[in-house]
Amino acid sequence: MRVVSGIQPTGNLHLGNYLGAIRNWVRMQDEMPEEGDCLFFLADLHAISMPHDPAELRRATLEMAAALVACGIDPDRSILFNQAQVPAHAELQWLLNGTARMGWLNRMTQWKDKAGKNREGQSIALFAYPVLQAADVLLYQATHVPVGEDQKQHLELARDIAQKFNNDFASADAPVFTLPDPITPPDAARIMSLRDGMAKMSKSDPSEMARIELADDADTIMKKVKKAKTDPEALPSEAAGLAGRPEAANLVAIYAALAGKTADAVLAEYGGQGFGAFKPALGDLLIESFAPITGRFRALMDDREALDAILARGAARARELGGPTLDAAYRALGLVRGDTQ
Ligand code: TYM
Repeated sequence: MRVVSGIQPTGNLHLGNYLGAIRNWVRMQDEMPEEGDCLFFLADLHAISMPHDPAELRRATLEMAAALVACGIDPDRSILFNQAQVPAHAELQWLLNGTARMGWLNRMTQWKDKAGKNREGQSIALFAYPVLQAADVLLYQATHVPVGEDQKQHLELARDIAQKFNNDFASADAPVFTLPDPITPPDAARIMSLRDGMAKMSKSDPSEMARIELADDADTIMKKVKKAKTDPEALPSEAAGLAGRPEAANLVAIYAALAGKTADAVLAEYGGQGFGAFKPALGDLLIESFAPITGRFRALMDDREALDAILARGAARARELGGPTLDAAYRALGLVRGDTQ
């Protein structure tokens, strides 16, 4: 079993990242048998697909590493690194560019959303982004990729690329790449914005009120929850009654995910009550859940050298693990890799 996943170091880690992905990473790490590996990385190479400030990217990469450790990623048990320190990601992407099809990339909803009407003005990197994502997981023969709902399409593309590459360049009994399975949490795969129950909670939302961030203090969390958009109805007593009420459904889903309960169990307690009662309870639960993480995060941010050392160690291990697959991919394509053969 090989678990691989990444997060872009742009903006701060938010509740959607935490419930949709990071919490699952920690669970998988904690349950990983001796012979398996977990690799988690900061997708700093992906971050240059949009306009960015170099100094800010450097800062955000370290900060996201600290956030992951604070959430429970243990650098002694998981391999934690940033892509830029492992050149094989970019190299393998180039090799896969020969296999990926324009039509496949054109269908990616993230590309369509981010490019909007101005496709011609976007970077090549934004268009080819999912090919780098495929390289990220195929390089390590990932079997399981824990992600939120929004990344599933990219993982399906990674499978298509792997399959076509194997078909075109490898024999059936010795495939170069393993087909990875996306793993999404059953209950919190898509956390929505606090301002709009139809839009996903996202780092790129211009309104900070739309998301709860790991770095928020208790007052900010409570303020954001109290100002969250809702409707005037009381909460229903069963989850079925949340149909057509996206904002209410989202707040109940967040509560349920944090409390480790089903939405029905939450509504058995709060059904019939208004948001005046439910929101403070949700705010308290969020504050209580984030407090230990935030404390660890602040302490880690004070020791930049330790963070650098964690990432350097993880990158060295990742380079080692990815080497054989990169070699195999070069060889399959009829290329001889300069420094290794
Ligand atoms: P990113 O940085 O946008 O998000 C990191 C993880 O958080 C999940 N997520 C959410 N889950 C539930 N609700 C939300 N509102 C929400 N917002 C974000 C994402 O699904 C993701 O799992 N392209 C990726 C990073 C990446 C990657 C990879 C992931 C690069 N290479 C290889 C997996 C494997 C991204 O931008 O995620």
